[in-house]
Amino acid sequence: MTDKNILLWDETLFKELEVLEPDYLPDYFPHRDTQLNTLRFALRPMLRGMRPVNCLLVGPPGTGKTSAVMKGFKEIETHAKNVLAIKVNCQIDSTRFAVVSRIYKKIFGISPPASGVAFRKLFDNIVDSLIRSEKVLLVALDDLNYLCYEGHANEVLYSLLRAHEEFPGIKIGVIGILNDASDLYRLDARVNSVFLPEEIAFPRYEYSEIRDILRDRVKYGFYPKVISEEVLNLTVAYVERTGDLRVGIDLLKRSGLNAELRGSRKVAAVDVEKAYEASKILHLCRGISLLLDSEKKLLELAAKKGEIQAGELYKAFHEQTGLGYTRFYGIVNKLRSLNYVDANFSGKGQRGRTRIIKLKLEAADILNCLEKKA
Ligand SMILES: Nc1ncnc2c1ncn2[C@@H]1O[C@H](COP(=O)(O)OP(=O)(O)OP(=O)(O)O)[C@@H](O)[C@H]1O
Ligand SMILES: [Mg+2]
Repeated sequence: MTDKNILLWDETLFKELEVLEPDYLPDYFPHRDTQLNTLRFALRPMLRGMRPVNCLLVGPPGTGKTSAVMKGFKEIETHAKNVLAIKVNCQIDSTRFAVVSRIYKKIFGISPPASGVAFRKLFDNIVDSLIRSEKVLLVALDDLNYLCYEGHANEVLYSLLRAHEEFPGIKIGVIGILNDASDLYRLDARVNSVFLPEEIAFPRYEYSEIRDILRDRVKYGFYPKVISEEVLNLTVAYVERTGDLRVGIDLLKRSGLNAELRGSRKVAAVDVEKAYEASKILHLCRGISLLLDSEKKLLELAAKKGEIQAGELYKAFHEQTGLGYTRFYGIVNKLRSLNYVDANFSGKGQRGRTRIIKLKLEAADILNCLEKKA
């Protein structure tokens, strides 16, 4: 006799696993109507062959920014054949040359040689092609913060947005995507005067919104009755801690895999609890991946110590990076605002009060993320 609750070895709980992949672009994309409409409105001029209104999408991890832009791209490309839309991942392409090479590849179908060609030459080729084909170029700079250091953002935006001054007739629009708008303070006036983006805020999702979105993934990703209402609620409760939907989708997938491993036809609370240990780190790793190298270094030193006097930490930091106290102090403040560390006065230092830098998260999780170089 077979127990109907037992999963046979060749059976699966997943109707369509793809629905639970992080880069899956769902048809159902609720709770972002305002943002999508603002984006559509900004892109509308492209339907008439004009340059769009530049946009800046800002919000914490996993709030749908990248997905919203991909939706916008899809729509504009179906309705306007004269549009060339390209998303650049600035974490990978973090210099002007790399960004322009990516655009070149989209237009010409081949990557330019990695060296020996000047930026100027590539850019001229791109401009020529756009003018000849009468196309409007739309560039989404995803994770734009990576370009904000060492002046790359200024160079990139300047080249793209002031191109028409040098090449009349050229039409280029830019969408910037960022977690934290304060990274843009480094943009200089020459860039700001042409960028003038329409800012679109992506706030954290609330419990009911997360539930609605995850329920849709459950419906298409799993066979019926695999995920009960209670299990869904438990999943949503975990996701609400960070508001990061990436964690939610990963959690559903891992919970399902855990249940399969147990040979069960249903996902139970224990599968979710176990999965959360792995999924929660996604949010942290994403946050850590957005830090600068010097910030990662300080976090690593702090993680290895767990608790350390600020002066001592500074000494180690300075030895390894050569950076001074102002920078150190700035980074400590940043790590504090991210809730990675506490920096309270101890009240007992030898020369009066000293600050103690104390890790607020599991050191192992932090070191794990740093190692992944995510
Ligand atoms: N409103 C929504 N409806 C359905 N799925 C959503 C929605 N918002 C986000 N998602 C899903 O959540 C995941 C994270 O979304 P996305 O990558 O767009 O976030 P993001 O804001 O770009 O995050 P980050 O700042 O970390 O890059 C994706 O798998 C996406 O499909
Ligand atoms: Mg994104």
